[in-house]
Amino acid sequence: MADTLLIIEDEQLLGSELQRHYRKQGYEVIWVENCADARHQLSKRSIDPLLVLSDLNLPDGNGLNLLEEHAGHMSGCEWVFLTGYGDVSDSVRALRLGAFDFLTKPCPLRKLDMTVHSAMRSALAQRRLLAGSQDASQRYTPDTLLGMSPITEQTRHMLRKLSQIPFSTLILTGETGTGKGLATRILHYNGSRSKEPLVELNCAALPKELLESELFGHEAGAFTGAKGRHRGLIEQAHRGTLFLDEIGEMPPDLQVKLLKVLEDHKVRRLGGEQETNIDLQVIAATNRNLQDEVRKGNFRADLYHRLCVFELRMPTLAERIADLRELTVTFMTEFNRKSGKHVTQVSERGWELLESYPWPGNVRELRNVLERCVMLSSSNLLPEEWLQLQTTSTAEAEQPRTLAVRAVNEHVTSGITAATGSRVANAITLPLDGSMGLDDMNSAIISAMLARYQGNVMEVARGLKTTREKIRYRIGKFRLR
Ligand SMILES: Nc1ncnc2c1ncn2[C@@H]1O[C@H](COP(=O)(O)OP(=O)(O)OP(=O)(O)O)[C@@H](O)[C@H]1O
Ligand SMILES: [Mg+2]
Repeated sequence: MADTLLIIEDEQLLGSELQRHYRKQGYEVIWVENCADARHQLSKRSIDPLLVLSDLNLPDGNGLNLLEEHAGHMSGCEWVFLTGYGDVSDSVRALRLGAFDFLTKPCPLRKLDMTVHSAMRSALAQRRLLAGSQDASQRYTPDTLLGMSPITEQTRHMLRKLSQIPFSTLILTGETGTGKGLATRILHYNGSRSKEPLVELNCAALPKELLESELFGHEAGAFTGAKGRHRGLIEQAHRGTLFLDEIGEMPPDLQVKLLKVLEDHKVRRLGGEQETNIDLQVIAATNRNLQDEVRKGNFRADLYHRLCVFELRMPTLAERIADLRELTVTFMTEFNRKSGKHVTQVSERGWELLESYPWPGNVRELRNVLERCVMLSSSNLLPEEWLQLQTTSTAEAEQPRTLAVRAVNEHVTSGITAATGSRVANAITLPLDGSMGLDDMNSAIISAMLARYQGNVMEVARGLKTTREKIRYRIGKFRLR
């Protein structure tokens, strides 16, 4: 079905002209001339418009009141006002009520088109998030956090309890791969905001300027390259949950701005003048010790105190090693299903290796190891030779994966290929036989570059044509220092 646009416009000529114009662009257009007809259309479940393009003053009422009546139960629908008489207080009220834009007549068609198209895109994005959230509610029950050890039971109990509390902020701490992302989904999809969006942002993944405009949004022309207006992630998370991963990486001036949003429940887009009311729950995750970061002056104490109303620490896999067998069997079953293999057995030696390994990458590392083993298996027994659980610094030099990583370092530091002895400057070799996952390859590339540039992160970022933040994030994630 074509995307539906509802036009509320009492001027005959303009109404019919807009209807014709947007029909030509392929939209399903419904045009009404007053509030009563608009109410009637909006109450019909079948039309479900992506966008309402409304006049302000109508013969039987005001478009703003219509929006107010419907604002609470219209997710995935944007409102744009097009009015000849609106004043500043109307436009403030419109934006407070969540309208996408407020345009005054006469409005050039090009500008109207641009606004209509970005509002449609925004509504579609909201719908995709909502559609995802409906089946996610069934997928992320607290029982998806596997494990029967007392510490896991306790974590699951806390997750259940917290999802019943309307908390405004929460900090999730824990090493990489301990399940902070999973815990966030459990909290969101089992809480009172589960039907609203869960919006995620990794603060380490973007340079400062981009992070700021992603979070707060911007108006057209707010900075060079800011085409059109953009609703920031804070606004997109309205009524739902904003998940700020790697919060410890957020630059200090953005920390100040975030704190202000949390205190005032209002957000202002970059280059914008109006503030929009915001109701959200924030979950911030970090694998750093934020209290230490506060002491060192890297993280603002006021934001820390605002965020840590509740704090939940995700235990490491080593602390919950009693869960390893259950996790292993579940992951093996999942990867069997994906690859059509039938790995059902683990030898005693296999269990010993798995249970004595310290798992610095926690459950994520266990998943990756098991994925590799299942993919490379040729019987129903988990192939021990593909576990390869020793780190590169230890003795397992004969293993192909370790050799490959060593070769990588030798290439870069000496320019000599370990395998052939030929001189290959500025190159590294990565095995494509399935013995190395993408994460391991990433890690190998970055550690080779770090060796090449004597640990200078700036140079490494430049060499890999990426940002320092991304490199720092991966150094932490892969524990490269
Ligand atoms: N207790 C658990 N039961 C089942 N799966 C788990 C559990 N803990 C973690 N996982 C799985 O392990 C993987 C890594 O977890 P997740 O991405 O949530 O970690 P994280 O703490 O967010 O890591 P990072 O700090 O690197 O972002 C995911 O696939 C997740 O589903
Ligand atoms: Mg994560």
